[in-house]
Amino acid sequence: VKKPIIVAIDGPAASGKSTTAKILAGRLGYTYIDTGAMFRSVTLRVIREGLLEALREDESRIAGVLQSITIGFRGDRVILDGEDVSEAIRENQVSREVSFISSLKPVRDKLKELQQEMGRKRGIVMDGRDIGTVIFPDAELKIFLVADPAERAKRRHAELSLKAGGAAVPSLEELEAEIVKRDKDDEERTHAPLRRHPDAVVVDTSKLTIDEQVGFVHDLVMKLVGQ
Ligand code: CDP
Ligand code: CDP
Repeated sequence: VKKPIIVAIDGPAASGKSTTAKILAGRLGYTYIDTGAMFRSVTLRVIREGLLEALREDESRIAGVLQSITIGFRGDRVILDGEDVSEAIRENQVSREVSFISSLKPVRDKLKELQQEMGRKRGIVMDGRDIGTVIFPDAELKIFLVADPAERAKRRHAELSLKAGGAAVPSLEELEAEIVKRDKDDEERTHAPLRRHPDAVVVDTSKLTIDEQVGFVHDLVMKLVGQ
C-alpha cells in the first residue's frame, strides 16, 4: 500500500467541490475537510458577538475571537466552540459576510495553522479556495473545479428548494448574482485569492453528472496511489 496523499480541491462557489470531496474521501477511506465551513464558523461567531460593524472599521478587533475559538469536525458535522453549527453556518447572512471575514489576514493565518495540522498525517481530501496554492502546495493531486455561473445558480436553487420544503428561497437571478459577487471578492482579495495552481487539473462540471465528476478525480488518484 502506497503512502496516503493529500487531494486539494479548489474552485468558485457551487462548482461541486464539497460534493466531490465528500464522496471521494468516502471511497478512499480518507478524511474530508471542508475549509469553507471553517471560514463560515468564524463568520457566525463574529455575527453572534455583534462584531461585524466594528471589524469593518478596525480589523484588529478580530483578535479576541481568534484567540478563543475552537473549530472542529465530528463526522460531517461542524463544531464551533462545542456547538453543532452545521445548519447555522449555511444561513444567508453568513453567506453574505463570509467573503469579508475570509479576506482578513489574521483569520487566514489562524485557519491555515489549523488546516495544516489537520493534514499532517495526509490521507485527506480538503476543499476550499487556496488549498492547492497556499495550504498544501505540496498536495500530490490538485483539482480546480469550474462550472457556468447559470448552472451553478440552478444547482444551488435546487439544493435550497429541497431543504426549504416549500418555504420561499431566493430566485435564480438573485443566487447567480450572489455567486458571481462572492467569486469576484474571493478572486480579488489580497491574501490567498482564489486562483488555480499551475499544476491543478481543471475540471468543468457544467455538463457532468456527480458520478462522472467524482469518477474522473478518483481515476486520477488511482493513477497516483495504485489500487
Ligand atoms: O460552498 P460555497 O461555495 O458556498 O462556499 P464555501 O466553500 O462554504 O466557502 C465560503 C466562503 O469562504 C468562500 O466564498 C470564501 O470567501 C471563503 N473561503 C476561503 O476564503 N478560503 C477557503 N479555503 C474556503 C472558503
Ligand atoms: O462545494 P461547492 O460550493 O463547490 O459545491 P457543492 O455544494 O458540492 O455543489 C453544489 C450543488 O451542485 C450540490 O447540490 C450538488 O449536488 C450539485 N451538483 C454537482 O455538484 N455536480 C453536478 N454534476 C450536478 C449537481
